[in-house]
Amino acid sequence: MKYNFDEVLDRSKLSTMKWEAQMKRKNDDSLLCFGTADMDFKSAQPIIDAIQKVVDVGHFGYPYKRQSYYDAIIGWFKRRCNWEIRQEWIANSLSIYPAFQSFIDGLTEVGDEVIIQTPVHFVFEEIIHANGRITVENPLQIKDGKYIFNIEDFKAKISPKTKLLILCNPQNPVGRVWTREELTEIANICLQHGIVILSDEVYMGLTYEGYTHIPIASISKEVSLNTITLASPSKSFNVTGLKHSLVITENQKFQEIYQNELLKNDQHFGESIFGHVATEAAFAHCDEWIEQLMTYVEGNYHTVYEFMKINLPEVKVYKPESTYFVWLDFNFLGMSDSELTSFFEDQARTIVNQGYSLGTGGSGFIRINIGCPKQILEQGLQRIKNAYDQLK
Ligand SMILES: Cc1ncc(COP(=O)(O)O)c(C=O)c1O
Repeated sequence: MKYNFDEVLDRSKLSTMKWEAQMKRKNDDSLLCFGTADMDFKSAQPIIDAIQKVVDVGHFGYPYKRQSYYDAIIGWFKRRCNWEIRQEWIANSLSIYPAFQSFIDGLTEVGDEVIIQTPVHFVFEEIIHANGRITVENPLQIKDGKYIFNIEDFKAKISPKTKLLILCNPQNPVGRVWTREELTEIANICLQHGIVILSDEVYMGLTYEGYTHIPIASISKEVSLNTITLASPSKSFNVTGLKHSLVITENQKFQEIYQNELLKNDQHFGESIFGHVATEAAFAHCDEWIEQLMTYVEGNYHTVYEFMKINLPEVKVYKPESTYFVWLDFNFLGMSDSELTSFFEDQARTIVNQGYSLGTGGSGFIRINIGCPKQILEQGLQRIKNAYDQLK
């Protein structure tokens, strides 16, 4: 089937955090929104069909996961990442965040340190802080125009209180797909120092041509036993509202800790029936959709790159290897964080994510979500150019 990613959905029938909430916040119905990590595309047909089948029966009771659900997940990881996982390693969470919370609570004490590699999704710091743990930033560094880990800084930041690394792979916002060598280096340091790896791999399906996502737990048995992988169909298949994600670990102790946390938080009973069926359909039947999607998204990246090259050549554009984000350096404008926010929201009337909220290394950068029809993206870029021209 050929999917039409140019289709602009009828917004009058939608109510989303990405668009409608921002329009309300800014009191501006003409805003263009490239922020929140959702795509503006219709879901893949097999997912729509699977949900429709449930709706047609009209029974929405507590669901049960059949063997076909597990086979779909196990098959995806084997096929796409060459990672062999077993059914008993797979548990669920409503989304990635409650699983963060469970492992921070179950594996660390108040006052312990958790390492993150900034700039990174703002919720990492938020959850660590909310749980009374200490966030230790190990900022990424830029070498030859590319983001890499700062290994020396990582080692220097480890203390007896460092218990957990929350890794983001593929990385949001910079779009890196960490290589086997990079992951091995990080994983070995964690093993040496007794640091558990909580690996957020929510963007795992969204790789650009030439890149393969490597789950860090697939590096070796030893690393697998020291890792919890958080994955989901949510970002890759544009089903964030269906609230169903995966908590995968080979380590039996971590499995038990997690089950105990589910009990403590009253989350052990029942999940979203739509999340179940969508997950199975996504992992079993949507390879074609995601391949077409990533070709389209890569085209959008080239649109951004060419536009900036011609119209705002001072902007440094970082080429993503995964995700539907482009990370752009606007530091040349010399604006403060609030001035840059106002430049986009008030002058350009576009919503983008501001890098300063993503920790050290983010200030002066923005993240544009390019998971949208090309014509919307082009309108947004034109608005940014117009606002820039007004500055001169
Ligand atoms: C890195 C990262 N992890 C987790 C999430 C949350 O994903 P979900 O709500 O689909 O579980 C997001 C959402 O933007 C994200 O960017």
